[in-house]
Amino acid sequence: MRIKAAVLEEFGAPLRVGEIDLAEPKPGEVLVRLAACGVCHTDLYTASGADPSGYAPTVLGHEGAGIVERVGDGVASVAPGDHVVTLFSPQCRECIHCLDPRTNLCLAIREQQNLGFLPDGTTRLSRDGEPVRHFMGTSTFAEYTVMPEIALAKINPEAPLDHACVFACGLSTGLGAAINTAKVAPGSTCVVFGAGLVGLGAVAGCRLQGAERIIAVDLSPDRLDLARGQGATELLTGGPDVVQQIVQLTGGFGADYTFEATGNVAVMRQAVESARMGWGLATVCGVAGKGETLDIVPRFLITGRRVAGSSFGGVKGRDGVPLLVERWLGGEIDVAPLISHRLTLVEVNRGFELMEAQDGIRSVIVFDS
Ligand SMILES: NC(=O)c1ccc[n+]([C@@H]2O[C@H](COP(=O)([O-])OP(=O)(O)OC[C@H]3O[C@@H](n4cnc5c(N)ncnc54)[C@H](O)[C@@H]3O)[C@@H](O)[C@H]2O)c1
Ligand SMILES: [Zn+2]
Ligand SMILES: [Zn+2]
Repeated sequence: MRIKAAVLEEFGAPLRVGEIDLAEPKPGEVLVRLAACGVCHTDLYTASGADPSGYAPTVLGHEGAGIVERVGDGVASVAPGDHVVTLFSPQCRECIHCLDPRTNLCLAIREQQNLGFLPDGTTRLSRDGEPVRHFMGTSTFAEYTVMPEIALAKINPEAPLDHACVFACGLSTGLGAAINTAKVAPGSTCVVFGAGLVGLGAVAGCRLQGAERIIAVDLSPDRLDLARGQGATELLTGGPDVVQQIVQLTGGFGADYTFEATGNVAVMRQAVESARMGWGLATVCGVAGKGETLDIVPRFLITGRRVAGSSFGGVKGRDGVPLLVERWLGGEIDVAPLISHRLTLVEVNRGFELMEAQDGIRSVIVFDS
């Protein structure tokens, strides 16, 4: 079929929105009609050419939500009409990692996905007979996409898809960092560095876990306001003195849990240093630049602080995303303030501009139905 999609043709150049070909789903694959897709930093990171593993041409987009149109042979977990959130982090439910509660890093299709192929090593996207690669196994800046069954989370059909799409990446990452990775204990004190979608999700996750104090740190007053809306009890402006301020605010000890959601390695270090002696846990969510390293004075570790990393918030997507969506529908998570702009597919480059200007938290591309 012919579909409209936003294609990365050349690194550093705007995406080109035009028609390309999409083949029918093969066994184990699903054709999804996209309803909405968030515009995320990872799309821009690849589009800019900064990502050393990036490839072109490819259809970008990975924060998708839509409706199953058709399924390939052997697909049993979703059917036409089902509402789904796309997962760049799949869950095969069979590999050694999927069977272990300690990680969500499914091993099933990683290699092919990283190269821009579906699990059988080919693409369904093409133009003039030439293959066009799939980005993050999702390619959701498009009217339709073909994805592996194991990379779709079936959600409650009552969830509005133009909001559900943020559960495909940033929001679940932040929520999961607090709920799954750190497992924040009730009554504890938390600090969240960065109040973008990931950090705001972490604030909400700390609140859902019953944290007593949630200190949000950001450079932007507008974002700190949003953090208060998600449950932050104290707000601090980031900068070189912030560790000292946190230590003072916590009786000289530091916080039980800290979260980094900026991608800045200096802030990651602050997250470690503002974690409490004895048991403080610093959870790193941000993606650092190529070649950057995190500097930790070992004394911070010897005196009982721990560091954890979190990919997609440790959420096993097919099981976990539908549950997070239920908590949103049940009123426990407030998604609306996180969605700032609604765009059409042809305005996708405007989404990048808004992101670079830090205008709002998420721009969402909404497709005509
Ligand atoms: N681990 C994962 O699976 C995963 C998933 C999605 C995104 N990410 C990463 O998480 C990070 C955050 O993503 P986002 O979409 O929320 O980004 P974002 O840019 O919207 O938010 C980052 C926030 O950090 C703030 N900030 C910058 N410098 C700061 C400082 N010195 N002190 C305090 N705050 C500071 C900014 O003002 C901004 O509000 C990025 O690095 C992104 O690549 C990771
Ligand atoms: Zn993303
Ligand atoms: Zn797996």
